[in-house]
Amino acid sequence: MIELKHVSKTFESKHQQVVALNDVSLQVNKGEIFGVIGYSGAGKSTLVRCVNFLEKPSSGQVIVNGKDLGQMTVEQLRAARQNIGMIFQGFNLLKTATVYDNIAIPLKLTGVPADQIKEKVEKYLAIVGLSDKKAVFPNQLSGGQKQRVAIARALSHEPEVLLSDEATSALDPETTDSILSLLLKINRELGITILLITHEMHVIQKICDRVAVMENGQIIEQGHVIDIYTHPENTTTEKFVSSIFPSDIPIEIITELEKQGPIIQLTFVGPSADQPALSMLSKQFDIHTNILSGNIVQLKDQPFGKLIAHIKGAKVETDKALNYLREQGVQVSEVKHNG
Ligand SMILES: Nc1ncnc2c1ncn2[C@@H]1O[C@H](COP(=O)(O)OP(=O)(O)OP(=O)(O)O)[C@@H](O)[C@H]1O
Ligand SMILES: [Mg+2]
Repeated sequence: MIELKHVSKTFESKHQQVVALNDVSLQVNKGEIFGVIGYSGAGKSTLVRCVNFLEKPSSGQVIVNGKDLGQMTVEQLRAARQNIGMIFQGFNLLKTATVYDNIAIPLKLTGVPADQIKEKVEKYLAIVGLSDKKAVFPNQLSGGQKQRVAIARALSHEPEVLLSDEATSALDPETTDSILSLLLKINRELGITILLITHEMHVIQKICDRVAVMENGQIIEQGHVIDIYTHPENTTTEKFVSSIFPSDIPIEIITELEKQGPIIQLTFVGPSADQPALSMLSKQFDIHTNILSGNIVQLKDQPFGKLIAHIKGAKVETDKALNYLREQGVQVSEVKHNG
């Protein structure tokens, strides 16, 4: 649906050159929600702006729906952009227009016949749950409601692709969740492919199928969300993943506990996250377990959890216990005080 092939973008000014994108290739499949995560300045906004040619790549190809945007005439590009909606952190609503007009005016400008405009505005305001706010002005809305209007405006052009540049970054956690749920609903019910960028891992975890991690204008890692969570390869990716599993246990405690048995990290994926694997251990083996920290999060399709626990007992018994856990499909690794 969206394909970037070796896309680079360099910004040139009098005194310096900034390489914002450096040989980025990625593919977003039809019907998928694809997330791009990275720290500030990584090149995320530049990447997403290249997808609708708001920013023209310095080199490489952008292919949307099988068509190469770089080969298009101005007219063709305008038509192609109709198929790509976009929402932003700052909502970009017209302050002096009502909610209704914020959606109706762009429709009018793109030549939608007058009799279809009312129908579309009402349809998409209903989808975002704001039918009762038609007549109000943006400054009478909360941040979450403003973003819903922006989403309705984007949807009213009936695009196949929706780009989202930090759409929830200005919102509180609860409102963020409700907007993410709305994006998921749009994806499932209208079949719209979504490419979103964010610096927050919980955005990725809640709605994305696949994720790419960006750093210094490059994609350093990409894959299915569950694989990136369970086997992050790059240190930046690890940092993002561990941001949702803070588990800083003081070294002094680790050193002390290690004398009496291993400290282990258990990673649960899917249904095994629900199993009381750890509580079974002390029943079956001559050991004591003590949970030091733990958390389970719900990924889009399945639960994923991490527990750090101390297992106290003789080595033969703790070894048997670890083997048992592995047989149950639980990923087990030892936590050492030096790493
Ligand atoms: N129009 C521009 N002119 C010059 N440099 C730019 C321009 N736009 C972006 N850059 C530079 O390109 C790099 C990537 O910027 P970009 O906005 O894509 O990052 P980002 O990942 O979206 O960051 P943030 O999370 O802060 O929004 C930065 O170093 C930025 O300063
Ligand atoms: Mg940005």
